[in-house]
Amino acid sequence: MSKNVTIIGGGVIGLAWTRKFLEKGWNVHLNDSQDISAFIEKEFNGKVKFFHDLAESVKDADYVQECGPERLPIKQDIFKILAQHAPTHAIFASSSSSIVSSEIAENNPAADRILIGHPFNPANIMPLVEVVPNPKTSKDTVNTAMQIYSELGYEPALIQKEIAGFVANRLQIAFLNECYYLVEQGIIDAADLDKLVLNSLGLRWSTVGPFEGEHLGGGAQGISHLLSGVGSNMNFQLGTPDPTKAHILIEQTEKAYGVGEENWKKRSEKRDQLTEEILKLRKQTK
Ligand SMILES: NC(=O)c1ccc[n+]([C@@H]2O[C@H](COP(=O)([O-])OP(=O)(O)OC[C@H]3O[C@@H](n4cnc5c(N)ncnc54)[C@H](O)[C@@H]3O)[C@@H](O)[C@H]2O)c1
Repeated sequence: MSKNVTIIGGGVIGLAWTRKFLEKGWNVHLNDSQDISAFIEKEFNGKVKFFHDLAESVKDADYVQECGPERLPIKQDIFKILAQHAPTHAIFASSSSSIVSSEIAENNPAADRILIGHPFNPANIMPLVEVVPNPKTSKDTVNTAMQIYSELGYEPALIQKEIAGFVANRLQIAFLNECYYLVEQGIIDAADLDKLVLNSLGLRWSTVGPFEGEHLGGGAQGISHLLSGVGSNMNFQLGTPDPTKAHILIEQTEKAYGVGEENWKKRSEKRDQLTEEILKLRKQTK
């Protein structure tokens, strides 16, 4: 028998999850605080049932994937309603990009069934879902969430201890901060920095992860050689971006890549197509 999922929030991420769950034969209910029923009806050919009322939308849910705004009080309120109105076996996952689920589950009687299931944008193409339990999340909840995301075709990564921003966004922010700093300081301009990354770190990390990259970079002796050689001299101070200089980043980026919906569509389609080609190649060369 097919299972029931409720997606809360029909924005960028909620729509991507909706597509994935539908593809795999789940019954999908979608709740949003805005009335987007006509759009949902058209977008999914009547296959997704829209609910304006949150409590009603989770009455028969086996799994809930919350994709509302990234605001703690809103998420806390939503999860309280889930605990009151969803079946007692239902699991509640938040797509949050940075908020830990122990905060979302504060004073929530269903804390053992709450966890983070954080996808990476574009969430219908990127294989990652970070599964981040909180100290009260039960093992069964974690195992079921891992299994569901795998069955949907994702490659879920279990994050062992919760930490704000989890892993992918902490890495992303650390790297982006240095990119912002270098451009603000006039050391390189935005388009040249992009080209530099595409021709080095981007290419390397789309084939091997940072640790395997280090291990291979050390030659036959591996990471121990690298860390005691080249690595031991990489001890310069990194920069901190200045928010008052953000206009420099915006001006250079808009000049290099253009603006507007048509432009966005064209460029994001090209990005998605390339991403899918890389994933295909990776599968073939395993
Ligand atoms: N966009 C990304 O790159 C990205 C990636 C991974 C995770 N996330 C996370 O996913 C979540 C959703 O992000 P998004 O980018 O899809 O946001 P979005 O703004 O595109 O969509 C949010 C949706 O939630 C609806 N909403 C607002 N309040 C609500 C409520 N109380 N109940 C039900 N629906 C409500 C809005 O009407 C809107 O349709 C956030 O927690 C975000 O951190 C976003």
